[in-house]
Amino acid sequence: MAQDATSPSRLRSNRATLPHKVGYALRHPARVAPYLRRAGRDAWLRLIHPDHVGYYRAVMASDTRRDPEAAVGSRSHDRWLALGAMQFDYLLEHGLRPGHRMLDIGCGNLRGGWRFIDYLDTGNYYGIDISPDILIAAKKTLAERGLQDKLPHLTITGDLTLDFLPDAHFDVVHAHSVFSHSPLEVIEECLAHVGRVLKPDGFFDFTFDRTEGTEHQVLREDFYYRTETLLAVARRHGLHGRFMEDWERRPHGQSKIRVSRSPVPR
Ligand SMILES: C[S@@+](CC[C@H](N)C(=O)[O-])C[C@H]1O[C@@H](n2cnc3c(N)ncnc32)[C@H](O)[C@@H]1O
Repeated sequence: MAQDATSPSRLRSNRATLPHKVGYALRHPARVAPYLRRAGRDAWLRLIHPDHVGYYRAVMASDTRRDPEAAVGSRSHDRWLALGAMQFDYLLEHGLRPGHRMLDIGCGNLRGGWRFIDYLDTGNYYGIDISPDILIAAKKTLAERGLQDKLPHLTITGDLTLDFLPDAHFDVVHAHSVFSHSPLEVIEECLAHVGRVLKPDGFFDFTFDRTEGTEHQVLREDFYYRTETLLAVARRHGLHGRFMEDWERRPHGQSKIRVSRSPVPR
């Protein structure tokens, strides 16, 4: 959904508060029943999966059963295509080349991934995800796009320690709309380990739902962070970080941070 990520009211609102929820319900009465159904399902899934990854994997299984494109956050096929193109065009503008090796964390059903696979040299795309259901959908996307010869790696993961990947291997690590669904400990785990798999001049781009008010979460599905919180986590793990102003101009609704082992050239 196209949103103005820089609108001051959006950046300050706390979606977890009762006044926000009541105001939202009054403005969008048709969304109340679907929200309540989702809240009920999520409460049940949290009960049977106390750990976040187990819980979110169950959310993805349920959402993917209905519609894999909606499960990765796209309300229509056109929007799915546009969101993938936005990710791809941005990295191309930032110097992605066919010979680069890329790790796509939370690759989903290859909304952006199929374009990267098509562009990169054979075997240079590595997609990981916590959800077996969405990885099955990813393989379907791969076949539909006729990209079998590109031999991408598509791998299930249970955490973000990246311990099965080699040192200093990737030019680009990418996580699009993943930290927007992640509690801070998951983000911290990723930032604690990503430096090891990055080449010295490589970088890691991730999007996040930004707030300039109180950090909060909704249904443990959507998490809102202040930029400084995430930059501080990166610093704690010896990474340089910067807020990507040029991403704000895209009609996406999330913000983007780039981290790297050495200071990122502007
Ligand atoms: C909103 S979708 C975005 C998918 C893809 N990056 C894209 O832009 O189309 C989020 C994806 O991240 C995956 N995910 C969520 N938490 C994760 C984690 N901790 N590690 C790896 N993948 C995760 C989900 O299973 C889902 O496929």
